[in-house]
Amino acid sequence: MNFIKSQYSDGFFNVNSINGFLPEKLPLEKLPVKYSPLQEILDNMPIKISNGSGYLDEVGKIHQVVKSLPNFIRDVSTEKDTRVIQALFRGYSFLSSAYTLEPSFQYFRKTGTYGKAKNILPMQIAQPFVEVSNKLDVFPWLDYHYAYSLGNFKKIDKSKDHKWSNLDMCVRFSGQPDETGFIMLHVDINQHSPALVGSVIGTLQSLKNNNNDNSIKFLKQNYETMKIMNSRRKEMWKASRWNHYNDFRVFIMGVKGNEDLFGEGVVYSGVWKEPKQFRGQTGAQDDIIPMEDIFSGVIKHYPKNELTKYLMDLRKYRPKCIQSFFLDLESSVKSINSNGVSGILHEQKNHKGLCYLLGILEEIYFFRNGHWQFVQKYIMANTKYSKATGGTPIISWIPNQMKAVMKEMCNIIDVIDNYNLKDNYQELELFKRIKMSLNKKEKLLKDQLEVVNKKIFSSDEVFELNKKYNLSDN
Ligand code: HEM
Repeated sequence: MNFIKSQYSDGFFNVNSINGFLPEKLPLEKLPVKYSPLQEILDNMPIKISNGSGYLDEVGKIHQVVKSLPNFIRDVSTEKDTRVIQALFRGYSFLSSAYTLEPSFQYFRKTGTYGKAKNILPMQIAQPFVEVSNKLDVFPWLDYHYAYSLGNFKKIDKSKDHKWSNLDMCVRFSGQPDETGFIMLHVDINQHSPALVGSVIGTLQSLKNNNNDNSIKFLKQNYETMKIMNSRRKEMWKASRWNHYNDFRVFIMGVKGNEDLFGEGVVYSGVWKEPKQFRGQTGAQDDIIPMEDIFSGVIKHYPKNELTKYLMDLRKYRPKCIQSFFLDLESSVKSINSNGVSGILHEQKNHKGLCYLLGILEEIYFFRNGHWQFVQKYIMANTKYSKATGGTPIISWIPNQMKAVMKEMCNIIDVIDNYNLKDNYQELELFKRIKMSLNKKEKLLKDQLEVVNKKIFSSDEVFELNKKYNLSDN
């Protein structure tokens, strides 16, 4: 493990102050022509396509068309170009999820509950899929980075930026605007990640060099970028209607944690004899909040429970270059001070820096509180199925992380409270406002958990509490 470096690359992603967590170049929209039988299936697969309905709309059709798909194992094993390998991984990921989860989807359409998935992948999917996964050094299942989200966007107007309304998916399941808006908003938020990553690297280097002015500058940049990200996050309600989440949700389910659908796991024909279980794509594989948690010290308060184990397990579901970035980030934070960034700011008497750190923590809280509201509406109000796509028990887990954020906020407030601050600078106003409002945040969560912990509860009641506390954030 090293002190944080200025970039972490795998040839597709290059985490630095220029790309943040987005790929270095725009992902390929289509596969090279030699893979056209695969591309054709992907193009005709969505439930809705412009001129009508696709394979997934018809019971069993996807299984039928896959029978005539050639096995491209030889071709894929000679591929050297990372962008082609990524596009192949994306294609086989989508096809594997569509192939296995189509029966669950059809059952859901009829009954409102998810039916059993098909748990055998035929050789012509399994072998090339595992081959490209090995080349990328990831698990062979639909993931967030290379497959569903960050490696799956194209710009509608190439001259414009990455706003969700200017983005489209290269490969899709439902083909409806709610799926596109949902996942493209993740990309939209990540368009601001260059400034966030740059500010994290810049702060750590400045703290190490005892450069207070630069530390303040980068912490302020981090705080302001988180504010922009939070304002983009609120667009979710427009980008994807909450009562349409079930149109595509079943297709992004993972195998691990979803035994009700997959039983012992999925058999990859011609690869492994025993069934395999991998986790599903989830926003929990996104990098913004985990990076901010490590950087700001929230991670110290993660409870020692299954949720924390799950979040740590998800690190393995990220590209290797992002895993290395997180490891170096964690060791850099520890190496500058045993109490991390807040510890060294305190030692360097950098009060303004501490106020911005508190501001950053409040933005992490806002992100999570807004996100908790997504979970209340998009999932709790829509379905009785209590497992998330990543395979976690939804209701009890998300609030744990919010408690962790508030604990670190209390810590910093205590540190700042001990100073005898006389000047009335701008940052102090930030501190005062946040300190005043923490109580309300804690009370909201407590009241919501009281409702949620009842045997039978109404998700509307949980949601309405946000308004009561004036923290509805949408
Ligand atoms: C309608 C929108 C969303 C819904 C319904 C949703 C749902 C969920 C659920 C159910 C989990 C629990 C873990 C699991 O998947 O098993 C989760 C975790 C998580 N999601 Fe989302 N999510 C949404 C949007 C986003 C966005 C836009 C981001 C960031 C770009 C994000 C980032 C995260 C993170 C970091 C976690 C891990 C838990 C934490 O650290 O608090 N999510 N999400």
